[in-house]
Amino acid sequence: MATVLLTGATGYIASHTWLALWAAGFDVVGVDDFRNSSPQVLERLAELGGRTPVFERADVGDAAAVNALLDRHRIDATVHFAALKAVGESAEVPLAYYRNNLGGLFTVCEALRARRIGRFVFSSSATVYGEPERLPLVETSRVGATSPYGRTKLMGEQILGDLATADAGWQNAILRYFNPVGAHASGRIGEDPRGTPNNLMPYVSQVAVGRRASLSVWGNDYDTPDGTGVRDYIHVCDLAEGHVAAVQRLLDAPGSFTVNLGTGRGHSVLDVVAAFAAASGRAIPYEIRPRRPGDVAACWADPGLAEQLLGWRATRDLASMCADAWRWQSHNPNGYDT
Ligand SMILES: NC(=O)c1ccc[n+]([C@@H]2O[C@H](COP(=O)([O-])OP(=O)(O)OC[C@H]3O[C@@H](n4cnc5c(N)ncnc54)[C@H](O)[C@@H]3O)[C@@H](O)[C@H]2O)c1
Repeated sequence: MATVLLTGATGYIASHTWLALWAAGFDVVGVDDFRNSSPQVLERLAELGGRTPVFERADVGDAAAVNALLDRHRIDATVHFAALKAVGESAEVPLAYYRNNLGGLFTVCEALRARRIGRFVFSSSATVYGEPERLPLVETSRVGATSPYGRTKLMGEQILGDLATADAGWQNAILRYFNPVGAHASGRIGEDPRGTPNNLMPYVSQVAVGRRASLSVWGNDYDTPDGTGVRDYIHVCDLAEGHVAAVQRLLDAPGSFTVNLGTGRGHSVLDVVAAFAAASGRAIPYEIRPRRPGDVAACWADPGLAEQLLGWRATRDLASMCADAWRWQSHNPNGYDT
């Protein structure tokens, strides 16, 4: 069976992808330096998968460490998750974002290319589309990221495109995620943000569990059905299965591709609040605040190309995203430090 290298392997999306790859029969080698995740994830993966994770602790920007680990393991394909991901923080420390997100990408690609391991899956984001011209977003929609973080993703896509053009042995699967939420149905792994959550669902979860007093809803005067922002939330387990399908496609057929991974449905902030309150049985107090600069009114995917190319589509609905996020949050009120 093929072996997949996961960078950023103990992070939120990667840990769910790790389990999905195991379930599909792949072997996995994980690498992370725990800058935004916990070593506890490895114990939970062992418990859930019934096998010992193969893991290397390293900074993917460290060429010597990346080369050494590639000398130790035979790899057939890579999924490159390792990156910093906070949009607001990226505006405060842009060089740290360019250094880590692009420097890590260069280092990993150079080491892989030297070994002719050319199947590469890249964690991109709907943020590369910036302000949508029209909805739903298709892969050919205009791109134009509006933050340093978004630009690291857009530049990453462009660098990988150049690499595939220059090298017939290099094939990219560029996956543009919409809004990943939820957790594994076991409640044993999930999203564990450090400090104040940047994203809606973990914030709502922490309000529900009593860690935070109330939710700030940034604007209720957008041109959307209830005035609050609309996003395409996708269950992290659906997203994980999308990665398995992308890896399989790279193994089965030549050629690079870029696809949206979303559900094709938008939900407003107040939809999420109501669904979470129903799933948790807890009230979610919230306050309406002014719009935040840079937020778009609405954003959702046309996921048709992913279905056509990968035979994949998201199946889990908002109620199950909230139920699974709540199980994770209520069983682990302080995340992996519980
Ligand atoms: N969560 C989202 O909303 C979202 C949306 C679109 C795209 N993405 C992208 O998906 C990927 C995974 O996101 P996530 O939400 O799981 O984030 P995460 O922070 O939970 O996972 C990223 C992991 O990468 C590790 N990492 C970062 N830099 C590293 C380095 N130099 N060396 C080794 N490890 C390093 C971190 O420790 C962390 O475990 C990222 O590339 C992110 O930009 C995330």
